[in-house]
Amino acid sequence: MGFAGVRPAGERPHRAASRLPPVDDGTVGEILVSEQALARRVEELGAEISRDYEGRDLIMVGVLKGAVLFIADLMRALSVPCEVDFMAVSSYGSATDSSGVVRILKDLDEAIGDRDVLIVEDIIDSGLTLHYLFKNLRARDPRSLEVCALLTKPERRRVDLPIRYVGFEIPNRFAVGYGLDYAQRYRNLAYVAALQEGDQPAG
Ligand code: IMP
Ligand code: MG
Repeated sequence: MGFAGVRPAGERPHRAASRLPPVDDGTVGEILVSEQALARRVEELGAEISRDYEGRDLIMVGVLKGAVLFIADLMRALSVPCEVDFMAVSSYGSATDSSGVVRILKDLDEAIGDRDVLIVEDIIDSGLTLHYLFKNLRARDPRSLEVCALLTKPERRRVDLPIRYVGFEIPNRFAVGYGLDYAQRYRNLAYVAALQEGDQPAG
């Protein structure tokens, strides 16, 4: 495997399945989606997207920062060529409830006119952020525009959206891990967990 002369730096013989033990800081609660379930579903989504985008001009648009782990794994599960770009948006509202008023903090590097664009999101909650993003990108005349979301909370949806690919539907709990944060922390967990009941943000 690989070039025989290359050895990983440091002494670790190979990557451990999960570098982090379960968090025991009283904030992270039960696991909603395990590392194994994530890996399996990402493979399935990758295969499905590869079938659908065969012979097309795919550009995946990751929404920073939450979708970073998901898009990194999803790209590697594709058997078709793809490009990748990123957007960062902030929605005005409380820390945990978006208002639908969205500001672009970082726009795409490339034009998407006539391209097959797939928005890759970490989680669709109310749907307001995605609704804005969808309208914004639609106006740039891509050939096609679809959405792939790792997680959705159907109970919380306030706008109806066409979400072509969904990883998992989760209950109405605040989720952290695998890219998702609570006050910018816990993105590096290898699994998706719920915040402890007492820590559920209002909303
Ligand atoms: P929406 O506009 O209400 O759909 O919210 C979308 C954004 O809010 C997501 O892209 C996340 O960044 C954030 N968000 C919503 N629910 C959660 C959650 O359970 N955990 C972490 N972030 C969340
Ligand atoms: Mg967030």
